[in-house]
Amino acid sequence: MELTLAPLSWRGLLLAASLLTYWNSPATAQVTLEAVPPDVAEGANVLLQVHNLTEKSLVFYWYKGKVENPSNEITRFVVSTSTTILGPAHSGRETIYHNGSLLFQNVTQNDTGTYLLHMILENFDNEKASVQFHVHQPLSKPRITTNNSNPMEGEDSVALTCEPKTQKTTYLWRINNQSLSEDDRLKLSEDNTTLTLFTVVRTDTGPYECETRNLVSDSRSDPFTLNITYGPDVPIISPSNTHFQTRTNLSLSCHTASNPPAQYSWSVNGELRASSQELFILNISTNNSGSYTCLVYNSVTGLNRTTVKNITVLEAVTLPIIQVINTTVKELESVNLTCSSEDTGISIRWLFNGQSLALKGRMKLSNNNSTLSIDPVRREDSGEYQCEVSNPVSTKRSNPIQLDIIADPTLGSSGLSVGAIAGIVVGSVAGVALIAALVYFLYFRKTGRGTDQRDLTEHKPSASNHNLGPSDNSPNKVDEVTYSILDFTARQPKPTASATPSPRATEAVYSEVKKK
Ligand SMILES: *[C@@H]1O[C@H](CO)[C@@H](O)[C@H](O)[C@H]1NC(C)=O
Ligand SMILES: *[C@@H]1O[C@H](CO)[C@@H](O)[C@H](O)[C@H]1NC(C)=O
Ligand SMILES: *[C@@H]1O[C@H](CO)[C@@H](O)[C@H](O)[C@H]1NC(C)=O
Ligand SMILES: *[C@@H]1O[C@H](CO)[C@@H](O)[C@H](O)[C@H]1NC(C)=O
Ligand SMILES: *[C@@H]1O[C@H](CO)[C@@H](O)[C@H](O)[C@H]1NC(C)=O
Ligand SMILES: *[C@@H]1O[C@H](CO)[C@@H](O)[C@H](O)[C@H]1NC(C)=O
Ligand SMILES: *[C@@H]1O[C@H](CO)[C@@H](O)[C@H](O)[C@H]1NC(C)=O
Ligand SMILES: *[C@@H]1O[C@H](CO)[C@@H](O)[C@H](O)[C@H]1NC(C)=O
Ligand SMILES: *[C@@H]1O[C@H](CO)[C@@H](O)[C@H](O)[C@H]1NC(C)=O
Ligand SMILES: *[C@@H]1O[C@H](CO)[C@@H](O)[C@H](O)[C@H]1NC(C)=O
Ligand SMILES: *[C@@H]1O[C@H](CO)[C@@H](O)[C@H](O)[C@H]1NC(C)=O
Ligand SMILES: *[C@@H]1O[C@H](CO)[C@@H](O)[C@H](O)[C@H]1NC(C)=O
Repeated sequence: MELTLAPLSWRGLLLAASLLTYWNSPATAQVTLEAVPPDVAEGANVLLQVHNLTEKSLVFYWYKGKVENPSNEITRFVVSTSTTILGPAHSGRETIYHNGSLLFQNVTQNDTGTYLLHMILENFDNEKASVQFHVHQPLSKPRITTNNSNPMEGEDSVALTCEPKTQKTTYLWRINNQSLSEDDRLKLSEDNTTLTLFTVVRTDTGPYECETRNLVSDSRSDPFTLNITYGPDVPIISPSNTHFQTRTNLSLSCHTASNPPAQYSWSVNGELRASSQELFILNISTNNSGSYTCLVYNSVTGLNRTTVKNITVLEAVTLPIIQVINTTVKELESVNLTCSSEDTGISIRWLFNGQSLALKGRMKLSNNNSTLSIDPVRREDSGEYQCEVSNPVSTKRSNPIQLDIIADPTLGSSGLSVGAIAGIVVGSVAGVALIAALVYFLYFRKTGRGTDQRDLTEHKPSASNHNLGPSDNSPNKVDEVTYSILDFTARQPKPTASATPSPRATEAVYSEVKKK
């Protein structure tokens, strides 16, 4: 139940007198007050709590201000009757509880201040305590302003200000979403409301954000970017090649950093060709060789820059041809391969069996790599040779030529290892020996003439250890015995062809048989 109390009643006066009487009596309880929260945003609530109330209280009086002035009474609560009485300072937003705590709802700026609680305890002691709270305006969204919206790179300094300026407010800045670190070119004012950028560069563009904080709220500005005028830089022409092939289309592009964007133009050999960033020329010929200039211009800075590119238009190379006197070369002799091309300004590369030729000590390149000399040749040099000619715009490979390195029979086995010879001969002879054996067997059976196995073994190759003749004692390994070359191919087609290590176009298979 609530009673309205206009002027102080007669009873109230009596009570007030009695309170004064007991004013100085020492408090038995250490009552403390607490505002929850002590800093409150406008429109929010705050509760003034009464703590450590050890003695029972009969009446609670709440006053606005530091002194107990009847006109400042907000409300009182009489415990015995559970009666709430509103005072002249009640705004309609305050509520008192049974435990003496006072709730403020929807606080305003005017609520900021000190509040006094007066209690009459059961022992008629008077207890007083006070508490204060602050009502803060929630921060409005700040905004960034600048004293120069169009600064020039390398020249102008710029002041950015975060507005509005309010009391008890912290200002924080962010650049490119990073918290700001001060340096030589960047200074904050003492209250952080102004950020000064000395002699701006293009990377100072931003975005900038300003954040404001007070005890009850925080707020952030919209991102702000500086329109810094700069450039143009020296332009870059792409692609970077300087050589182009005839009968293709030439497409060049120019680029520069500039704010506002640069105006582009192209000139060829000093004559204006295009007022655009791209230059396109269809179906170029060698006449299109020359110096190509890209000019860029910034109308605000009034600066221009150029880049010159010297372009050479070339015909594609023609197919080269390999010239050689004889593609069949005896081992240990020499051979010269010549790469013949009609083109100039070319480079030449040699390929062996499709791979880049690995130059050995026996090989030599001369005449700008057009001649490949191999001296002496070896079996392993047999294979396909190609030469490749290139100019900066094209590359062509000759048709392959097959070089065959053959053993020189007059040199015998000297060019090869005993093992290699043995392999070749054993392979070739295997079939021959078989046939020979058969022929002998048939012949002797027919004639009745006997023979022993020794005759057969004597058909084995001389490179083996089956050398029975007296001349086999010679210290060098060249056999001095005479050989007859028997061609078995006519009688026995290809019985041993697969066993020959270097199959050749000719079907002839040779075997060395010692002549007795
Ligand atoms: C209540 O009183 C005791 C003793 O005086 C003190 O230690 C305690 O801190 C007080 N509590 C509050 C919330 O003030
Ligand atoms: C007093 O009562 C109110 C409402 O019931 C409660 O919110 C508050 O916590 C109480 N205070 C104390 C100190 O108990
Ligand atoms: C808070 O008070 C303001 C005026 O002071 C009023 O406009 C508003 O409606 C109130 N809000 C609530 C929730 O009572
Ligand atoms: C705050 O108090 C002042 C004077 O004390 C008064 O003029 C003003 O109207 C009050 N404002 C509110 C919102 O109560
Ligand atoms: C902007 O402020 C900076 C720093 O205070 C100052 O150097 C500059 O001259 C000012 N620019 C203009 C256009 O006022
Ligand atoms: C100013 O900003 C810096 C961070 O950039 C911060 O550390 C400092 O406390 C701020 N000072 C004030 C007065 O707001
Ligand atoms: C930046 O400034 C230039 C003038 O220097 C102006 O032409 C351009 O429109 C501005 N750009 C923006 C995004 O405001
Ligand atoms: C480029 O700048 C130079 C000197 O700065 C000037 O002489 C020339 O006329 C300018 N050219 C153009 C196309 O603006
Ligand atoms: C381009 O060619 C001209 C002469 O034709 C020469 O003076 C200039 O140095 C060349 N520039 C480059 C980048 O090669
Ligand atoms: C190539 O050389 C081989 C071996 O010296 C020889 O047998 C052949 O007759 C030569 N061919 C020509 C066309 O000279
Ligand atoms: C290969 O050319 C060299 C000179 O480059 C010459 O001395 C040599 O005799 C030539 N060899 C052959 C087999 O033609
Ligand atoms: C010759 O060939 C070698 C390796 O194959 C290469 O490094 C060199 O540049 C070539 N020289 C010419 C003139 O083509």
